[in-house]
Amino acid sequence: MGQCPGCGEWNTLVEERSAPGVAAGRGGSRSAGVAGRATVLRDVQQEQTARLPTGIGELDRVLGGGVVPGSLVLLGGAPGIGKSTLTGMALGHLVGSGADVLYVSGEESPAQVRMRHQRLEIEACRALDVPILTETDLPSVLATLEQLRPAVCVIDSVQTLHDPALTGAPGSVGQVREVAAQILRVAKGIGSAVILVGHVTKEGSIAGPRVLEHLVDAVLQFEGERERTYRTLRALKNRFGSTNEVGVFEMREGGLVEVLDPSARFVDEATGKPGSVILAAMEGSRPMLVEVQALVHPSELEQPRRVCTGIDRNRLALILAVLGRHAKIATGSADVFVNVVGGLRVDEPGADLAVALAVASAARGVPLITGAGPTRPLACFGELGLTGELRTVGHTERRLTEARKFGLGNALHPGTAPTIGRALRDAFAGGVSGVSGDVVIRDAREKVGP
Ligand code: TYD
Ligand code: MG
Repeated sequence: MGQCPGCGEWNTLVEERSAPGVAAGRGGSRSAGVAGRATVLRDVQQEQTARLPTGIGELDRVLGGGVVPGSLVLLGGAPGIGKSTLTGMALGHLVGSGADVLYVSGEESPAQVRMRHQRLEIEACRALDVPILTETDLPSVLATLEQLRPAVCVIDSVQTLHDPALTGAPGSVGQVREVAAQILRVAKGIGSAVILVGHVTKEGSIAGPRVLEHLVDAVLQFEGERERTYRTLRALKNRFGSTNEVGVFEMREGGLVEVLDPSARFVDEATGKPGSVILAAMEGSRPMLVEVQALVHPSELEQPRRVCTGIDRNRLALILAVLGRHAKIATGSADVFVNVVGGLRVDEPGADLAVALAVASAARGVPLITGAGPTRPLACFGELGLTGELRTVGHTERRLTEARKFGLGNALHPGTAPTIGRALRDAFAGGVSGVSGDVVIRDAREKVGP
């Protein structure tokens, strides 16, 4: 059936295998079960399992200290982001430390995988010693798993495996769920840790409508833009660690390289020109300084462009409205571009002030001045309220400490300026005198302010 008779939606029906021997009758007679025994938690034996370090510090940190034996991890990311590279490197390191591993590839030929791993042969990473199985047939993958009993196995990708017992195409919701469930069953039986690689769809969900997220112990998301070099790895769910950790990588010729001090990198690269500002962001539990850039230019379109990367589009619309209404910075007839440098995403309310200041600075063509010297960019953070007030965000002290560490002591934040108007006045204080509505770009259609 193409259409669901229940809700009327199309193509939402998913094939499911029915368990044999389960009586379908509702309200019929139930077989009497045997009562189980409940245990007080204090009496439950604690498990002390040593984790397997992958040799990639940032990956280990996001996992909570390495791979937990017998766990099931889902690694999601857009095609080309570096999932195969990351998992290949991890396996290479594990081989180097003497662990048994298996790399199951359903996407690439052995020669293709070899070519990639050849680039990854770096110290301690014995990438060419990783055993590979190129197979898409689920039963044969399961049989190989049971025979080899690897400590860590990578399935690249879960969408390419196919269970012949189901009719759905590989990658369909029913297939993906069944494939993951069967692998989970076998892996738990032999104590193997499995990393399932999954492609994310355009909408950002992994392997269909989040079907796997309940099943697995941890969900890692690998993000970034393919054309840029920076990649971030976050845990969206982690039964064995915190979901606050973020790993930052750079894609280089010899594979992924950990970026141990991203702040230093981004502050060094900041231009300090009009439209540039440093955001003291929180990436999970880690403070990070990133550059936010804006460009404001008179538009030739009836409906001016609003283009942003690294922040939410609707958030940008809100910030532009607040700027127009409460700071007399009208951008209604201008194209506005906002970019978080390095391909990073900052999905947190603390980014508002940085976006607002970058746009204001770009609109006025005036660089933001900091008391720390003319060559140092201005750092800031804070949430923007609809009435133009600045709202406190979490971890003020840690953000300020990070800014100070890189010589950006005079950071602007809700503690120094209660409103956006005041923040702009302070930000421009060294450059021009006050905010007097003296805006480079005026909106012809909609007069703002007196
Ligand atoms: P890949 O891991 O294949 O991405 P995914 O499995 O997520 O689809 O790698 C993505 C890109 O990384 C690919 O276009 C080539 C590039 N790359 C490097 O720049 N350096 C390297 O050492 C490797 C192995 C890949
Ligand atoms: Mg791949």
